[in-house]
Amino acid sequence: MEKPRAVLFDAYGTLFDVYGIGALAERLFPGQGHALAVLWRDKQIEYTRLVTTSDDGAHYRPFSELTQAALRYACKRLALALTDDAERQLMQQYRELPAFPEAREVLQALHERGVATGILSNGDPPMLQAAVASAGLAPLLDHVISVDPLRRYKTHPQAYALGPQATGQAAADILFVSSNAWDALAATWFGFRTLWINRYGLPFEELGTQPTRTGETLHDVLAFF
Ligand code: LAC
Repeated sequence: MEKPRAVLFDAYGTLFDVYGIGALAERLFPGQGHALAVLWRDKQIEYTRLVTTSDDGAHYRPFSELTQAALRYACKRLALALTDDAERQLMQQYRELPAFPEAREVLQALHERGVATGILSNGDPPMLQAAVASAGLAPLLDHVISVDPLRRYKTHPQAYALGPQATGQAAADILFVSSNAWDALAATWFGFRTLWINRYGLPFEELGTQPTRTGETLHDVLAFF
């Protein structure tokens, strides 16, 4: 099989480590940090689906707004008093996420092989630019693609179609990398070659389709080359 010509990464949890969010949540709400981080993430993704599938996108709001709304919901649901300061701190974490330690080396290795690199994310452009800048990855990314101009979130096929549009490569020549099983699944359905990064030993989705490959860290991207 031909080597992929471009590699596109999901952002949150894939290229950028969201672990610090759980750690901060635990400091702010001792004993509830993990529950808050999980519910916050689940609600955030649920909201992306809600606004994408309802009323042809009429209720679209940028990812940072949905993230804030999901945080407020999750705190209410867990009966946690979210002060303005706690909200500001948690939202700020999203803007300044570190990349996973191996991200730079892997992106560098792809560049040396002449492979185009990028992010394809639900994040809105200011959020993505801030994360890319704080992780120092801007020089190693050829594309930072946000679904925001489309006003449809992944897993809408038009959101994945931004990848071939931006890179000029066919979907089958693009490797899409995600730590989110649902994202790796829908990207496979779309026609990308896919790598699911299963850092935490989770089961894949039970919907009959498997990603092209499964790995444990971003280093596994390089096995395609
Ligand atoms: C993203 C989220 C879904 O970056 O992780 O698109």
